[in-house]
Amino acid sequence: MGNPLFREFERLVKITVLGKEFPVPEKNTCLRAFQYMSPNTIPYGRFCWNQECQLCRVSYTMAGQPDGPPRAVLACKILVADGMQITELSDELRYNLMGVICPSPPRPSYDDEGIDPDMPR
Ligand code: FES
Repeated sequence: MGNPLFREFERLVKITVLGKEFPVPEKNTCLRAFQYMSPNTIPYGRFCWNQECQLCRVSYTMAGQPDGPPRAVLACKILVADGMQITELSDELRYNLMGVICPSPPRPSYDDEGIDPDMPR
């Protein structure tokens, strides 16, 4: 039995989101693929999931057509395809995917006295 959130799939396909590659379940919408990538944020976004709110807008090109103009679509409507390159995300998607597309910057390390050795003194 599969996960009821996702349409039945047999394999993962590779998509690129803002230059970073992710394996996602085939035969699912882009928004579901984003949920697969970030299950702890996408469900809490302000998405309607039924093509009304427009908060899931993305632009994409296909790997075999790098010079083609990006196509603007709704992520809750379009199915993912192997080689899809998502080049633009709506603000709502960008906010909800921030943790996977922009990992946190490294934290400073402190010495035994609690002083950051890289800080000027
Ligand atoms: S989630 Fe509302 S239009 Fe796609």
